[in-house]
Amino acid sequence: MTALPRRKVLITGAAGGMGRACARMFGAADDLVLTDISQDRLDAFANELRTDSYNVAAHAGDMSDPALIATLVNELSDGKPFALVHTAGLSPALGDWKAIMQVNLVASELLLNALESILVPGSAAVLIASSAGHMMPPVPEIDAVLAEPLSDGFLDRIEQIIVGMSGANSQGGMGGISYTLSKRAIHTLVQRRSQTWGPNGCRITSISPGMIDTFMGRSEIENTGGAQELLDATPAGRIGTPMDIAMAAHFLTSDNASFISGTDLLVDGAGTYGIKASMAAAQG
Ligand SMILES: NC(=O)c1ccc[n+]([C@@H]2O[C@H](COP(=O)([O-])OP(=O)(O)OC[C@H]3O[C@@H](n4cnc5c(N)ncnc54)[C@H](O)[C@@H]3O)[C@@H](O)[C@H]2O)c1
Repeated sequence: MTALPRRKVLITGAAGGMGRACARMFGAADDLVLTDISQDRLDAFANELRTDSYNVAAHAGDMSDPALIATLVNELSDGKPFALVHTAGLSPALGDWKAIMQVNLVASELLLNALESILVPGSAAVLIASSAGHMMPPVPEIDAVLAEPLSDGFLDRIEQIIVGMSGANSQGGMGGISYTLSKRAIHTLVQRRSQTWGPNGCRITSISPGMIDTFMGRSEIENTGGAQELLDATPAGRIGTPMDIAMAAHFLTSDNASFISGTDLLVDGAGTYGIKASMAAAQG
C-alpha cells in the first residue's frame, strides 16, 4: 500500500486561538510544525494533538529570534512543498507599539526571508493580517517605510509616523496605530512577495479577520471601544470563530486556490465595510 503524500505545515502562534484551530484543521491530513512563544501552552497543545494521533513537531520561542526561525525552516527543508500559516501576533491590548511592530511585521519579514531559501513549487503561505489594515487609506510615503522593516532606524521612523498621527496621545493610541500600520504592511508585503514566489511556483496571501472569538479578540473587546464597535457593525450578526479563519487558510493553501496569490481575503462577516459605512454615516 502506498501512503498518500503529506505536506509539512508550519503554524506560528500555534498555542493561540487561530493557531489551535489551524492545527486541528490542517493536521487531519498534514504533518504539523508548531511554534509559539509560550512553551507551556505549546507543549500542552502538542501533547493533546499527539494523543489524538496527529503528527506534530513543536518548537517554542520568539518569532523575532533568527535561531528559532532557522530551526523552523530546517523542519520544512525536506525538498517537498510546504505550507505556512503565520498567526503569531500581538494586539494593542497585549503589547506596546514597539512590540506590536516587532512581532507583527519585523518577525514576518525575517520568517519570509528565511523561507525563500527553501521554496519548492507548490508551497503556499498565508499570513494573518487584520481588518484594521483596511481602515487606513494608503499613504505611499508610509507604505515605503513599512516596506523596509529590517532597515537601520526602522522603529525610529515608525515612531515618528505614529506620533504624527491623530489619536497617538496615549500608550493605547500608539499601540492601536502601530497595529493598524503593521497589518497594512502585511497586505503590501504579500503583494510584493507574490512577485518572487510566483516564478518559483509558490503562492502567498493574507487573511484579514474581523472580530474573532480568541483570547486576543476577547481582550480587545474588553479593553478597547473600537473592537465592540466593529462587532456591532458586523452584518453577519456574530463574532467569528477561529475555525472560520482555519477554513479560509486551508482553502488558500490548497490547490483549489492555485490562481490566488498576492492578495488579501477579508474574513470578517462584512464588518469592515459595515464599520466604514457607519463612520461615513456619522460624519454626514
Ligand atoms: N482575534 C481577533 O479578533 C483578530 C482580529 C484580526 C486579526 N487578528 C490576528 O490574528 C492573529 C492570531 O490572533 P489570535 O486571535 O489567534 O490571538 P491569540 O492571542 O489567541 O494567539 C496569538 C498567539 O501568538 C503568540 N505570540 C505572541 N507573540 C509572539 C511572539 N513574539 N513569538 C511567537 N508567538 C507569539 C501568542 O503566545 C499566542 O498564542 C494575530 O496576528 C492577530 O493580530 C486577530
